[in-house]
Amino acid sequence: MFHTPVMPRPRKRSRPEEAGIARHEEAKFEDVRIFLVERKMGSSRRSFLTQLARSKGFIVEDSLSEAVTHVVSEDCQASTLWMWLRSRALRNLSMMHVLDISWFTDSMREARPVTVETRHLIQETSPEVTTPTPVATVSQYACQRQTTTENHNKIFTDALEVLAVSCEFNEIDGSCLAFRRAASVLKSLPWAVQCLRATQDLPCLGEHTKAVIKEILQYGRSFEVEKILADERYQTLKLFTSVFGVGPKTAEKWYRRGMRSFSDVLAEPSIHLNRMQQSGFLHYGDISRAVSKAEARALGNIIDEAVRAITPDAILALTGGFRRGKEFGHDVDFIVSTPEVGKEDSLLINIIESLKKQGILLFCEHQASTFDMSKLPSHRFEAMDHFAKCFLIVKLKGSQVEGGFQQMEEDNRDWRAVRVDLVSPPIDRYAFTLLGWTGSRQFERDLRRFARSERRMLLDNHALYDKTKKEFLEAKTERDIFAHLGLEYMEPWQRNA
Ligand code: CTP
Ligand code: MN
Ligand code: MN
Repeated sequence: MFHTPVMPRPRKRSRPEEAGIARHEEAKFEDVRIFLVERKMGSSRRSFLTQLARSKGFIVEDSLSEAVTHVVSEDCQASTLWMWLRSRALRNLSMMHVLDISWFTDSMREARPVTVETRHLIQETSPEVTTPTPVATVSQYACQRQTTTENHNKIFTDALEVLAVSCEFNEIDGSCLAFRRAASVLKSLPWAVQCLRATQDLPCLGEHTKAVIKEILQYGRSFEVEKILADERYQTLKLFTSVFGVGPKTAEKWYRRGMRSFSDVLAEPSIHLNRMQQSGFLHYGDISRAVSKAEARALGNIIDEAVRAITPDAILALTGGFRRGKEFGHDVDFIVSTPEVGKEDSLLINIIESLKKQGILLFCEHQASTFDMSKLPSHRFEAMDHFAKCFLIVKLKGSQVEGGFQQMEEDNRDWRAVRVDLVSPPIDRYAFTLLGWTGSRQFERDLRRFARSERRMLLDNHALYDKTKKEFLEAKTERDIFAHLGLEYMEPWQRNA
C-alpha cells in the first residue's frame, strides 16, 4: 500500500491574526491544520469534534483557507465534496490532504496525527465510475444531474430566468434555451458559486451567462437584468401572460394595440376574450396565488372521491411539481387511468360530471383523446401529447384543507379557486405519461435530447422508439424507461432541473 507520511511543512511566516489566540497556545502539532467539512457532519457534531481535537492539542481551523493542510469530511460522495472544494479556488488545494473521518478518528485515538494512508483519502475520481468522464464533471444533460428543490444559486438563476423570458418575448428561441440550460446547471450544484473560476468547468454556461454571473458576484446585481425589469414592454407582457389562457402571442397583440393594464384590456370593446381568458380574469387573484402542498392533497382527495364513485379500481396519481416535492405550485397535476386498456375513455367525463354536481367546477376545458399508436413515433420535438386531458378551475373549501387556508380570503370567502390539470392515458402508456408530466420542463427536454443524441431513440409522453432496432420499447414503470435509455434512475424529487 502507498503510504504518504505526514511531512513537516516548511514554516510559513507566522500570521499576525494567529498570534495570541488562546486555542493555539497549547497546539502540539503546528504543521497539521485541520478543517472539518460541515456538510453531512452537521454543525453540532462538527463543534464537538473540533473541541475534542483541540483538547488533544490539534489545530482546527474554523474556515477553509490556504493555511489548512488536512480537510476532513464525512460526506462519502466524493464528487460533491470535490466540486465544493474546487469552487473555493484555493491555490494549494493539490497540496492538501482530503481525508475521510477515519483519519481523524485514528488520530484522536492515537492522540497524534497519524500517517496519511491511501485508505484515508477521498479521491477525486472514484473507481466505480465506468464512464470515461471524471466523476466531478457535470453532465450537459439535466437528466444526468440530480436537482432537488434546494437551489444554492438562486440569485443567479432568478436573473437568468428574467433573461430567458425576455428572449421568449422577443422570439429569440436559441438564447432563451441557452439561458434556461445555464440556469438548470446552476440549480443542480450542491454549492453556491462564489467566484467566476468555480464555473469554468461547468457545461452550458456561455459568455453572456458568465458575464451576468460576474456582474452579480461583483455588484450583487445585474444591470442588464434590472434594465429589463424596468422595461415597460417586458412588464406588460409579463403581466398579460400571467393570466390563464393568455400566451406571449396574445400578450404581444394587446401590447401593440396600446394596452398596458388589465383594465385597458377589459375596457376595450373590440377585444374578444375566449372562455379560458374570461375565467382567467375572473379568478385572477386566486389562481395567480401559489397552491400549497396541503391544498394539493385536498384536491387529490376530491378527485379521488369523484373518480372512485364510478370506477372503484381507477388509478390516480399526483404528478407535476408536487410529485417532485415542491412546497408550492401554480396548479395541481394528476394522471388517471384504469387497469384495463380502453376503459380510461370515460374517466375524465365522469370526474367532470361529479365536480359539476357538487357545484365546485368553475371552469373546464376538456380535450378528447386523439391518441393513435399507428401515428407514432412522432419526430416532432416537444409536441403536446394526444391523450384525453382537461384543464380545470376548481373551488376548494378551507374546511377540506388540513389546517385550513394559511391566508384568509380577501372578502371572507371560505373557498379559493385552484387550477387543476388531469390527463388520462391508456394504462400501457402510463409510465411514459407519468415521466412526461412529472417534469420539470427542462428535465423532460433533456431526457428527449439525450435519447435522440446519445441513444438514437425517440421519447415523448406516449412511447420510446429505438431507431436502430426500429421498434418500440415497452415500459411498465419509469424505471423501465431509464433502464432502456441506459440512464441511472432519478427519483422525482431529483428532477427539479
Ligand atoms: N405537460 C405536458 N403536456 C401538457 C402540459 C404539461 O407534458 N399538455 C408537462 C410539462 O412538460 C411539465 C409537467 O407536465 O413537465 C407539469 O406541467 P406544469 O403544471 O406546467 O408545471 P409544474 O412542473 O407542475 O410546475 P408548477 O408547480 O408551477 O405547476
Ligand atoms: Mn403543475
Ligand atoms: Mn399543469
